[in-house]
Amino acid sequence: MSTVRTINFGVIGCGLMGREFASAAARWNHLVGLDVAPKIIAAADPDRATLERFTRCVPGIRASADHLAVLEDPEVEAVYIAVPHHLHAELYTAALQAGKHLMAEKPFGIDLAANERIMRGVADHPHLLVRCSSEFPFYPGAQRIASLIREGALGRVLEVRCGLLHSSDLDPSKPINWKRQTAFNGEYGCMGDLGMHAAHMPLRAGWMPRDVRALLTKVVRERPGPGGTPVPCETWDNAVLACMVGDSPDTEFPLLLEMKRIAPGHTNTWFLEVYGTAASARFSTRFPRTLETMRYERGRPQAWSVEDLGYHSAYPAITGAIFEFGFPDAIQQMWAAFCDELAHGRHGMRQPFHCATPEEAAQSHAIFDAALRSQKTSACVKI
Ligand SMILES: NC(=O)c1ccc[n+]([C@@H]2O[C@H](COP(=O)([O-])OP(=O)(O)OC[C@H]3O[C@@H](n4cnc5c(N)ncnc54)[C@H](O)[C@@H]3O)[C@@H](O)[C@H]2O)c1
Repeated sequence: MSTVRTINFGVIGCGLMGREFASAAARWNHLVGLDVAPKIIAAADPDRATLERFTRCVPGIRASADHLAVLEDPEVEAVYIAVPHHLHAELYTAALQAGKHLMAEKPFGIDLAANERIMRGVADHPHLLVRCSSEFPFYPGAQRIASLIREGALGRVLEVRCGLLHSSDLDPSKPINWKRQTAFNGEYGCMGDLGMHAAHMPLRAGWMPRDVRALLTKVVRERPGPGGTPVPCETWDNAVLACMVGDSPDTEFPLLLEMKRIAPGHTNTWFLEVYGTAASARFSTRFPRTLETMRYERGRPQAWSVEDLGYHSAYPAITGAIFEFGFPDAIQQMWAAFCDELAHGRHGMRQPFHCATPEEAAQSHAIFDAALRSQKTSACVKI
């Protein structure tokens, strides 16, 4: 019988995403044949009610209001940090200095300067595995498109579109929270919140844009604060970035990145569309089973084929291939990739798609920082 390596984790920030990790770890027996498993042994959150709720879900852990308790815990091998963006640089670099492997939430720093500080920390600790959370590419449809890209099946790339669309902010009575305030979320606004989701797959494909034209909009200017008093809602709600990829007229193509908190009708729609001279493919979590592909052959009909994918996950699971895949599955698959890479290294992984790297997160900052300058100057900005 093969032994399972346990990775002892500390969680810093036990809110929405901290709980998603706890849920994924708690149902690890959903995965089949993986020889590594996470075990959460410590957690920190200064909000008492949040920490209590977390410890009820993960009993027996060492819980603290102070993140240093997790970082100084010698039994903690790796940490997951899921805190508001203004704390990323301080906490991520502290985790690296404490010698912990790190899964860190996007955007990996509140702004470019914070990201550069984190990247210095990463460079100073090359023996630690550091990855940035980005789960949507683990949907089976996205994985199939990743394979097409790896195989070079697209021919010359004509255009790529990727984005994440929400609609809950369409409700003007939705209370203010930190994600709508510049001090905590950053000037990027929706790009900080949603941007890594849009940028990850294009960046993994090597499609780093050379320039950007940004269209950023603020729709709801105030939201109810404590006691219902209106509080300024400062951050960008929606962003459309029209970028150009490629450095010669023979290879260049447009990359359109969309990040919207106010996209009517959408509930967490992540989509990726790639169009090429030899093949094209489209996937959206709106239709999570469905992959559309088209192969172009001269003289043959240009017909899209529609395929129900089922549960064909990167890491095998108990769910039969005939059933559906969903958001919690994507989160768990991402965590499987992180644990697999931590245990076996990039080249020893069971499947080829590793989690988003610090370098990819840094590239996304270069895009979003240029987008802010493009918005200010109404100009196309070189990246
Ligand atoms: N990957 C995704 O799909 C996804 C989705 C949502 C949010 N996020 C990211 O996750 C991060 C957290 O977002 P969230 O939605 O979980 O926010 P949240 O507000 O639900 O949780 C953040 C938690 O951090 C805690 N916190 C604040 N200061 C802390 C400190 N010093 N030490 C420990 N905990 C502290 C807060 O009390 C809160 O409980 C952000 O970077 C966000 O962009 C990622």
